[in-house]
Amino acid sequence: MELFEAIRNRRSVRRFSDRPVEDEKLQALLEAVRMSPSWANMQCWRFVVVRDVRTRETISELSYVESFFAPKGYKVNPSKKGLAEAPVVIVACADPSQSGVIWDQQYYLTDTGIASQTLMLAAHGLGLGTVFVGVFDDPKLRGLLNIPPGIRIVGLFPVGYPLDETKKEGPPRKPMSEIVFSEKWG
Ligand SMILES: Cc1cc2nc3c(=O)[nH]c(=O)nc-3n(C[C@H](O)[C@H](O)[C@H](O)COP(=O)(O)O)c2cc1C
Repeated sequence: MELFEAIRNRRSVRRFSDRPVEDEKLQALLEAVRMSPSWANMQCWRFVVVRDVRTRETISELSYVESFFAPKGYKVNPSKKGLAEAPVVIVACADPSQSGVIWDQQYYLTDTGIASQTLMLAAHGLGLGTVFVGVFDDPKLRGLLNIPPGIRIVGLFPVGYPLDETKKEGPPRKPMSEIVFSEKWG
């Protein structure tokens, strides 16, 4: 798949078929993620790959934080179902001690954000679907997956074959004039 086509056509996928994800595809996905750039090439990211159905169901239950979704009118995380039905959930974590902090910039978030975009584009390139799920019950999730105190959980990625193959438009993007300035801010 051509790079610009992949960037343009990638969409968040929130419902999945029960078709298993081939091990080779999962490996290819993780290999792509491994090539992402990072602070001083320290690669602070760590990934927990969850296949166990019980664990995925519990992760799905933990994807809800009432105070975050209530203002948007959501009763549940829009990806709740997908986290249980995708055959694989990748939990993206980071070790902040393996990245930089300068003037309050927490580069572990940047590093793992970049790796997350690699993950989403690589999944799309492999014919798989995924979505960045950034809302979850952190304390319960780290308990479930034995994630040590110093490690941050950055995002959850259900990975599988999309339930609905029809191309979706996706939510609109802001116009260029609103997000790009020339020479100076504003
Ligand atoms: C940091 C971050 C957190 C997100 N958290 C959630 C989430 O908890 N649940 C969900 O369904 N989508 C979540 N999304 C997906 C966005 O809603 C989605 O990317 C956006 O609406 C644009 O749609 P598109 O990905 O199809 O282009 C998240 C995306 C990002 C980058």
